[in-house]
Amino acid sequence: MPTIKINYLGHSAVLLRGSKNILIDPFITGNPKASLKVEEIPKIDFVLVTHDHPDHFGDAIEIAKRDKATLVAIFEISQKPEVVESKIKVVGMNIGGTYRQDGIVVSMTEAIHSATVGSPAGFVVEMDGKRMYHAGDTSYWSDMGLIPKLFGELDVAFLPIGGHFTMDIKQAVLAVNDLKPKLTIPIHYNTWPVISADPKIFEESCLPFIVKVLLPGETEDLGV
Ligand code: NI
Ligand code: MN
Repeated sequence: MPTIKINYLGHSAVLLRGSKNILIDPFITGNPKASLKVEEIPKIDFVLVTHDHPDHFGDAIEIAKRDKATLVAIFEISQKPEVVESKIKVVGMNIGGTYRQDGIVVSMTEAIHSATVGSPAGFVVEMDGKRMYHAGDTSYWSDMGLIPKLFGELDVAFLPIGGHFTMDIKQAVLAVNDLKPKLTIPIHYNTWPVISADPKIFEESCLPFIVKVLLPGETEDLGV
């Protein structure tokens, strides 16, 4: 079983490198914390977008087009004129649904947030025997504990901690206690002053759950 390399690209952008390369919320262009340029991103197989706010949709079309990757998003995003006109491969799905291709399993989960079209969402991604949850932009909600019940134990959870648009640290700690992931990686903070947060406070507040703070550009190996 290959290991998965988790590469944090800044803000909510996460690259999962395993038997396939999966890029979630590819906000690179215009992201003051982006750790690399779009042209430095390796070949992507799947681009997952949690919702259509520009700090998540980002460079999704450009990257999907470049690599002939499959864009996975909520149905209404798949119908947006710029997506249809780009002729990229797109899978429009919805919350509660699961999409399988090439050994990758992608389930779409609830998120409490807003969007221009469709609904905001999160993803549970299974690859190479590992299960990863990306919450997208969301508030805490009382049924987050359903996610591991529905989809199984989480090896890693990517959770927003910046507040203002999403959960803050206090809420994200509640989320960790419900989700019980083996590892949590904080996202969506310190990109701009309005979402300032100290990830060390989050790390300490989550104990005994394990938090790994990644700086943009840093990588964490999910071993076997
Ligand atoms: Ni948003
Ligand atoms: Mn956002």
